[in-house]
Amino acid sequence: MSYDKHILWVCTAALVTGWVFTNDDGCSSGTVMRHSCNWTCMHLTLQWPGSFCIGLTNKTVCKIPESVQNWTIHGLWPMRTGHCCDCWPIFHSHLQEIEADLTQLWPSFIKGKHFFYFWKNEWIKHGTCAGCEETMGSPFLYFQAAVKLRKLFDIDNLLQSSRIKTSCEVSYKHDDIRSVLTPLLGQNYDLQCVTDSKGREAWIQLKIHLFRNQTIGCPKQEQEQKFDRLSWFNSTGHPCPKNTTIFYVPINYENPHEPCN
Ligand SMILES: *[C@@H]1O[C@H](CO)[C@@H](O)[C@H](O)[C@H]1NC(C)=O
Ligand SMILES: *[C@@H]1O[C@H](CO)[C@@H](O)[C@H](O)[C@H]1NC(C)=O
Ligand SMILES: *[C@@H]1O[C@H](CO)[C@@H](O)[C@H](O)[C@H]1NC(C)=O
Ligand SMILES: *[C@@H]1O[C@H](CO)[C@@H](O)[C@H](O)[C@H]1NC(C)=O
Ligand SMILES: *[C@@H]1O[C@H](CO)[C@@H](O)[C@H](O)[C@H]1NC(C)=O
Ligand SMILES: *[C@@H]1O[C@H](CO)[C@@H](O)[C@H](O)[C@H]1NC(C)=O
Repeated sequence: MSYDKHILWVCTAALVTGWVFTNDDGCSSGTVMRHSCNWTCMHLTLQWPGSFCIGLTNKTVCKIPESVQNWTIHGLWPMRTGHCCDCWPIFHSHLQEIEADLTQLWPSFIKGKHFFYFWKNEWIKHGTCAGCEETMGSPFLYFQAAVKLRKLFDIDNLLQSSRIKTSCEVSYKHDDIRSVLTPLLGQNYDLQCVTDSKGREAWIQLKIHLFRNQTIGCPKQEQEQKFDRLSWFNSTGHPCPKNTTIFYVPINYENPHEPCN
């Protein structure tokens, strides 16, 4: 059974058993299924907790747990052009076996929401497209793949042993950061920044480009995704500009929205 068919089967089963869907893009259309499986590259998007809250419009929603000290997972995103299948349900119990890893590596920084809310959202938005691939063909397998990749790309260790240190005073040239990452990642990544209230560029995300088989390297695709934009952001970030230096800000647990004030 092909994985397109598998998803159609899941969706049909969902219809038959009467699971509730949130919109019309789900199971009723085979076109949507073909669309959501039609991708060749994916991005493992990692986020820096130190700058994550800078871009949020609501200055009260953010909290960085003190246990979080390293880069965390934002998501594992197939680069597709359409919506994913939002008819493939995920339950908290699916993730029980890797919940400890997810809690550490894939936390949510939005107050008052259980982490599962974030994971579920990522599964619906991105995971159900990834699920077309055998190695990621269930909620558990998808999250397990992301955790495995996050551990494989140990950029914390890489940065800690480089001269790129977190600081509110020192900023770095684009190329200085790239020269640290390139031995591990080649050219297969993007740096994203947010602009803080003083107009400084703060490094917020690292997007690692992967093939469908989870190996690094996939031709850069310009079709920037509208899907990774979250409503409570002014913007999730933009490519870090090359004509100005970049701040790698420390995590400020007391004032995460303005870590350098
Ligand atoms: C799949 O992607 C290819 C290349 O982007 C495109 O030509 C084709 O029309 C797509 N098929 C569907 C069903 O979206
Ligand atoms: C977000 O947008 C609002 C309204 O456009 C603006 O007042 C605010 O300063 C922006 N916040 C950031 C961090 O850019
Ligand atoms: C900001 O978030 C808080 C806590 O979630 C909420 O009570 C408040 O209504 C939000 N404010 C705005 C302007 O959205
Ligand atoms: C952060 O990353 C470093 C380098 O990989 C590791 O030694 C350390 O245990 C990590 N800390 C936490 C809290 O995950
Ligand atoms: C992964 O996929 C890419 C692109 O299709 C291919 O070049 C590479 O050999 C594959 N790697 C493995 C280990 O299968
Ligand atoms: C850098 O370039 C962007 C557009 O390419 C421009 O908007 C910005 O003002 C420039 N910044 C500096 C510091 O030159």
